[in-house]
Amino acid sequence: MIISVPATSANLGPGFDSLGLSLDFRNTFYISPSSMQSIKITGEGEDFYKLKTDNAFVKIFSTILDNQNLKFSFEFENKIPISRGMGSSSAVISAAITAAYYFRYGNIDKQQVLNTALYYESHPDNLTPAIFGGFNVAVLERNEVVHTKFEVPDELRAIMVIPNRSMSTKYSRQKLPKKYSTQDSVYNLSRSSLMVAAFSQRKWDLLRVASKDKFHQYSRMKQFPILFAVQKLALEKGALMSALSGSGSSFINICHKDDCLQIAQALSDRFRGFRVLDLGFDNDGLRVEHT
Ligand code: HSE
Repeated sequence: MIISVPATSANLGPGFDSLGLSLDFRNTFYISPSSMQSIKITGEGEDFYKLKTDNAFVKIFSTILDNQNLKFSFEFENKIPISRGMGSSSAVISAAITAAYYFRYGNIDKQQVLNTALYYESHPDNLTPAIFGGFNVAVLERNEVVHTKFEVPDELRAIMVIPNRSMSTKYSRQKLPKKYSTQDSVYNLSRSSLMVAAFSQRKWDLLRVASKDKFHQYSRMKQFPILFAVQKLALEKGALMSALSGSGSSFINICHKDDCLQIAQALSDRFRGFRVLDLGFDNDGLRVEHT
């Protein structure tokens, strides 16, 4: 079986734990029954010994499959950077559940994959676009995800700036305020609503105001202050919006197709130690490429 899952970018500024979109940049997972269990990793994480000995995909897959007599060979072609806020865990979790459901029950239901995935990652803002593609609003209701999606057109691209250090989601969540003022809550919910309207009506000029946030970005960026300079330069060079991708450390800079080359160039000239990727958006989400 071959499954591919796209990278994602969550929060998009004010939509904390709710908004997310998917990027045209995929990890591919190859799973086949075999006489011997084996794991091969190429690309991101190929040098991390621990990823082979204590692999999240294999653990989730084996738990759901629950059959000790079957052995598999696993090959993972990883493009999504690890611990950079681009949804690498969501890709692994959703692919592992999909593969296990296929080998156990012979069918796959994306909604069921999403609801099961919540057990392994408690916020749905990366999982939902990873599985369904596009720009998503995701809401938790009684341990299930209620969600809706808009397709993102070709006229937009994302310039991802990927720093050379990671930021842990778990650690940075602990540092966030436990309470928010009414004023800050209104600030975020009004902008998050505006962002949904911008994507639904394709009014891209709204994104700059819509992407401002008072919940999480400042306290996270303070841990790695060069990110303020990334955001400033991207906006100066014409990005429609510039936001921390998930809990960081990457930044997503959304721009018109015609502007992306010069924005990407300016960012890579200035932040030489960081990777800069010029990516399109994805509207498919998780794909079973072959069974
Ligand atoms: N929304 C999460 C956070 C990251 O900001 O901590 C992605 O699930």
